[in-house]
Amino acid sequence: MKTQPLPAYVVALVETMNADPPHDCPRCPRLVAYRQANRAAHPDWWNAPVPGWGDPEAWLCVVGLAPGVMGANRTGRPFTGDHAGLLLYATLEQFGLSRGTFAARPDDGLMLDGVFITNAVRCVPPENKPVPAEIHACRPFLEAQLAALSRLQVVLALGAIAHQSAVKALGGKLPKLPFAHGAVHRLPSGLVLVDSYHCSRYNTNTGKLTPAMFAAAFEAAVAARRP
Ligand code: URA
Repeated sequence: MKTQPLPAYVVALVETMNADPPHDCPRCPRLVAYRQANRAAHPDWWNAPVPGWGDPEAWLCVVGLAPGVMGANRTGRPFTGDHAGLLLYATLEQFGLSRGTFAARPDDGLMLDGVFITNAVRCVPPENKPVPAEIHACRPFLEAQLAALSRLQVVLALGAIAHQSAVKALGGKLPKLPFAHGAVHRLPSGLVLVDSYHCSRYNTNTGKLTPAMFAAAFEAAVAARRP
């Protein structure tokens, strides 16, 4: 029987899926206990590591912190269902990086164009605060996810923890690459890392991050893209 090579897009998609933790990932005891409590309390929620999603041929990867309990942990899609997703998806639309309408649910039909979204930590942490051991334990998945994006040029880190984990995942040295909103870092691999404050409810409600500041970080990412 003659076999046809798989289309490049399908190969790219499978590679990004291989970078996801297993549904019952056992690496972090505290996060496993929280997952089990959430499964008992809300059996209809996702309650598992949240896979990255988006365009497997992305030039840009947005790295968040970790799923929110009522957001990605409930719906199963990063930044979907809580406040943090509102500014992120609105900005992706503004920059022509999505198609369709974001409706805060994974079956809203939204498609990302040139962008992939993932988190430094894939399981929801209590109080949105992963501890250093959990960030470390989840880093292999971030490394694998970034490595699987064969057309990746720019990583946009949302917040200091995402920044630190992305620098380590990409082989950079942290003291040389400090986090600052709007900073643009060149990594040894040739990838560019852009920093933004996280689009959390706290940062957007206090004015620490305005829509214009967030758009400026995306402008820096677009400017760093090679033709
Ligand atoms: N939802 C995510 O998926 N990640 C974040 O960092 C915040 C909310």
